[in-house]
Amino acid sequence: MNSFWQKLPKPFLALAPMKDVTDAAYRRLIAQVGKPDIMWSEFVSADGLYHTREIKKIPDSENPLMRDLQFAQIERPIVAQLFSSKPSMMAYASELVARLGFDGIDINMGCPDRSVEKQGAGAALIKEPELAVALIKAAKEGVSHTQHSIPVSVKTRTGYTKETLNEWIPTLLSAEPAALTIHLRTRKELSDVPAHWELVESIVKLRDSINPNTLVLGNGDVQCATDALQKAKETGADGIMIGEAVFGNPWVFLGRIRNETPPQERLAALIALAYYFEELTPQKHFQILKKHIKAFVCGFDGATELRAKLMKATNATQLAHIASENTISVCHI
Ligand SMILES: Cc1cc2nc3c(=O)[nH]c(=O)nc-3n(C[C@H](O)[C@H](O)[C@H](O)COP(=O)(O)O)c2cc1C
Repeated sequence: MNSFWQKLPKPFLALAPMKDVTDAAYRRLIAQVGKPDIMWSEFVSADGLYHTREIKKIPDSENPLMRDLQFAQIERPIVAQLFSSKPSMMAYASELVARLGFDGIDINMGCPDRSVEKQGAGAALIKEPELAVALIKAAKEGVSHTQHSIPVSVKTRTGYTKETLNEWIPTLLSAEPAALTIHLRTRKELSDVPAHWELVESIVKLRDSINPNTLVLGNGDVQCATDALQKAKETGADGIMIGEAVFGNPWVFLGRIRNETPPQERLAALIALAYYFEELTPQKHFQILKKHIKAFVCGFDGATELRAKLMKATNATQLAHIASENTISVCHI
């Protein structure tokens, strides 16, 4: 299938899905200040979408969980990430996502969160290869009920308790996903060890021999665009996904490293983010923004004091007010 994946530059840079971080508000900001080649939504529970609709007896359009599936044109190409262990739920949610106009669907097969794994989803699927393949097929089938033939990809890890790429990657490739993103650690390793970038070359070789059409993205510990491009060159990955390095640094895809952006510009971006947050994610508590305040306001003289004041804000207007009252000290740094 000829999709947006084939039109991406090589190597390409991707924004990682991060629950309560890369939501509609932060993606809007990133798209405006320094867009990557492709973006992911936060992950959304396919079962949650279905059951909320059934319990409340409402049409999909009134489902409150659909708020996590909103996006703007400037974010394109954008992929919606889903999780489930039930093919019927995956088919339902994939059809929904295709109808919403997303450019692609990604299935999460790497999340180590207990609540996700308890459902048999996320990283638990690494232990259930047949089910993993069935989920990819179900997503494709769901999409086929619409006129939007969008591609299906997978994000996973190198194995569960140990690295099992030689079995796991061919299994996934047998279902012909458009792309595979590999977070270069096992489930057991969580994020406690450095990502195993040395494994990418062998993943690319497996891909070349089994299904050359599937794109390979590497993920883990990438600090900036320069680092990403270097890693792509060294390993042969088609694309590189960046996650935590976007905390406080929506300019990461422009090549800026954290704290390189002047404090004034960072504050302005934080305030813009707070307003987007209120406008686009009214279902989320303002408390969620605090991790952004910590990440944006650090590494300059006076940052600790200013951060403590900003943390007291309970809405975007208050945040802007506190920032403007303290602008002079920041200006003179
Ligand atoms: C706060 C947070 C939320 C995350 N949420 C998701 C998610 O919704 N879906 C997913 O596939 N991975 C999720 N991840 C994992 C990241 O996408 C990425 O694989 C991981 O952080 C490693 O990449 P990095 O070193 O560039 O951050 C999350 C990570 C963090 C830190």
